[in-house]
Amino acid sequence: MKTDHTPATDQDAFAAVADAMDRAHALARRYVQTLPERRVAAQGTPAELAAALDEPLPEQASDPAGVVEEWFRRAEPGIVASAGPRFFGYVVGGATPAAVAGDWLATALDQCSGFYPAAPAAAETELVVVRWLLDLFGLPASWSGTLTGGATMSNLTGLAAARQWVGARLGFDPAADGLGGRPPIPVITNTMTHSSARKALSTLGLGRTSLHEARTIDGRVSLADLEQKLAAIDGPAIIMATAGEVNSGHSDDINAVADLRDRHPGGAWLHVDGAFGLFAGISPALRHHVAGVERADSIASDLHKWLNVPYGAGVAFVRDAAIHKSAFAIPAPYIANSEGWNSDDYGPEMSRRFRALAAWCALKALGRAGYREMVERCVANAQQFAEWIEPQPDLELLTAPELNIVCFRFTQGGDDLDAFNRQAVTAIQRDGRAFVSGTTWGGKAAIRAAFDHWATTSEDVQILCDVVRSGR
Ligand SMILES: Cc1ncc(COP(=O)(O)O)c(C=O)c1O
Repeated sequence: MKTDHTPATDQDAFAAVADAMDRAHALARRYVQTLPERRVAAQGTPAELAAALDEPLPEQASDPAGVVEEWFRRAEPGIVASAGPRFFGYVVGGATPAAVAGDWLATALDQCSGFYPAAPAAAETELVVVRWLLDLFGLPASWSGTLTGGATMSNLTGLAAARQWVGARLGFDPAADGLGGRPPIPVITNTMTHSSARKALSTLGLGRTSLHEARTIDGRVSLADLEQKLAAIDGPAIIMATAGEVNSGHSDDINAVADLRDRHPGGAWLHVDGAFGLFAGISPALRHHVAGVERADSIASDLHKWLNVPYGAGVAFVRDAAIHKSAFAIPAPYIANSEGWNSDDYGPEMSRRFRALAAWCALKALGRAGYREMVERCVANAQQFAEWIEPQPDLELLTAPELNIVCFRFTQGGDDLDAFNRQAVTAIQRDGRAFVSGTTWGGKAAIRAAFDHWATTSEDVQILCDVVRSGR
């Protein structure tokens, strides 16, 4: 049906794309240019924000450019400037100039990445990005890798390969045959293993409540407990280690964990969740935090955190490409027989967006030296904040910050300090100048700040200090 907004000719149709992009571009330009001054907290209650957008499904067509503008106007109070330099909650990176531009271009190009014939430039770009990342992190060039939607999917990818490896040792193919009727595959984690890795285990049918959990001391796995847990397992096992625990930034002693893996008579697969901690490997001054990571069998990391590319990007590395492929490759006549590398064979998705372009542009624009400088600056920012906390009479550091996370708490504020600290998180967020998030550490309510934004300055850290001071 022809409507007022249905273009008459192909040329009109694509002119409409360009017009809508121009309008989006104008909005986005204004947005990114004002990021440093924007509030880092939403304005309005969930009910108000929902009401601002809610309406019945439109029956009639509208002007595409106008639609974009209308959405922005109605949704703006709910847009958090998490891409700005003072969002210290969770572990949220920004997006470098080249990364934003690359991601925009990827949207316009709309490549169906997944199958080589549909998107050969995307596939070749992804292979280069994987190779560059292996090099950046000091991992062997021979490893297999694929870009994912984030560290959760990267954990799933690495653990799917681990499941294949254990299955092969026990004489079956989990991807083909499933796990029904088989004895449980033993997985050893530490008690602070990230929830995303647990989610991946449950998705893979490995379960998240039947884990063998080794104790954690100050954010690191207890090697003695890990050894004991491993000794109680008869056959092959999966060990999960962490490079960068989310509350403390602390990393397991990966070399020591790999030694235990090597000594286990039944054999074991070592998966490392290095969502942000892997980035320590970029800096000679910080590399010791992840020493031995190249001895892992699979590694998960994020690109939308410390690589500072837009959301929806992570990477999974697997030492053995054949095992990696055996977890995901599946015959489908309509996409069979293609030449070239199909990412579809190496991850849980089939069709996917061209996420490699943002990463390619980001890596090309900053280079190894730029990323090294950025990672070191983020760690210096964390150090500056920790040094400010230390002498404050009513604040304490809950653990020594080693990388880019600072975990702290108010020590004065009435009888119920946990409630006081939780309220302080809300008060700091509401201030709108800097965002921190809450957690628990050692059973106590705590506050954490993560530093992984490419443009955060020492002045931004000072503003965070001021906001924390006024947060009580
Ligand atoms: C150690 C660790 N693993 C995994 C994740 C999950 O990453 P994503 O939310 O990007 O999937 C996070 C997120 O903070 C993390 O810190």
